[in-house]
Amino acid sequence: MRNFLGKSVAVGAIAMLALTACGSGRDGDSSSSGGDSGSTKGFAANSLIGVALPAKTSENWVLAGDLFTSGLKEAGFQSDVQYAGASTTVADQQAQITSMTTKGAKVIVIGATDAAQLSTQVAAAHAAGAKVIAYDRLILNTADLDYYVAFDNFKVGQLQGQALLDGMKKKKPNGPYTIELFAGSPDDNNAGVFFNGAMDVLKPEIDKGNVVVGSGQKDVKQVAIQGWKAEGAQARMDQLLTSTYGSKTLDGVLSPNDTLARAIIQSVKSAGKPVPVVTGQDSEVESVKSIMNGEQYMTINKDTRNLVKETINMVKSLQAGSDPQINDTKSYNNGTKVVPTYLLPPVAVTKDNAAEAYANDPTLGPLTKK
Ligand code: BGC
Repeated sequence: MRNFLGKSVAVGAIAMLALTACGSGRDGDSSSSGGDSGSTKGFAANSLIGVALPAKTSENWVLAGDLFTSGLKEAGFQSDVQYAGASTTVADQQAQITSMTTKGAKVIVIGATDAAQLSTQVAAAHAAGAKVIAYDRLILNTADLDYYVAFDNFKVGQLQGQALLDGMKKKKPNGPYTIELFAGSPDDNNAGVFFNGAMDVLKPEIDKGNVVVGSGQKDVKQVAIQGWKAEGAQARMDQLLTSTYGSKTLDGVLSPNDTLARAIIQSVKSAGKPVPVVTGQDSEVESVKSIMNGEQYMTINKDTRNLVKETINMVKSLQAGSDPQINDTKSYNNGTKVVPTYLLPPVAVTKDNAAEAYANDPTLGPLTKK
């Protein structure tokens, strides 16, 4: 595994800090055209659209595959929707993208399994005339990526950091608070952006001494969980409990998503300790239940239905020969170019607003009824 975490984080961080520093809104740029406008000519309405997704590391990816299959069909396209395998994910995804290119896909939508290892396949797709859209996760170091569509990842991190502070204050009005930090997989560009967003909120409190990282492990490289694996998070939490929390109380844990949050909670419970305030992301069924039971503190709602819908809208625009709608031309520098982006707003969800947040969700809504 190439270690490019520092690089991908730096890309996200610089782009995001620049945005914060200049004080412009996150979707302040409402330009409606992006990419190489002028060269877009459209293509046949029943063309093949490729969708290459990563391993099913969280429920959102499972749902995305189903929604792409049905949504592209409904829009009149042929589709080829593939997941990278659970173990050899990088090679799998590279081969899938190459095969989609060979089959003549006009657009290839990619949820990258490793942000830094797809530039060769993306270049070949582009050279064959396909447009390439990065879905949810940015693809690094390529000029051949046309668009990026995602929830605002930096905002996700900020919401998690703020909720962690709020949750701890609710339980215990005065600090200092002792926390631990976790981040997602180093090969996923989002992991660094989520972490930077959270640290944007937490670092000032850490610097003031209001919040203390018990283990002292504050660097994203020390706290990242390879492959977003629950086992990895549980093992790290087990270790932290043994090394640092013999008698000390753990008030909160920054967890980047729900899968890891549940593993962290499991570890703490197995050790017979009280469950701290734990953040999450994705609104997974088991985590929403846990929030309603007062265990996990919060999650983030990133409605996959909306993300897939926006992506299919981009495909439809490209088919018609027009420029897809974008709303951000600054935040995502992939190391080679600033990628024209469409960002959707994430929503923080605790027990307090769950019923409202999931009112239109047929699966999650019923879980929030008292
Ligand atoms: C997604 C998260 C998800 C994680 C693990 C990230 O790239 O943005 O929603 O929890 O991958 O699957």
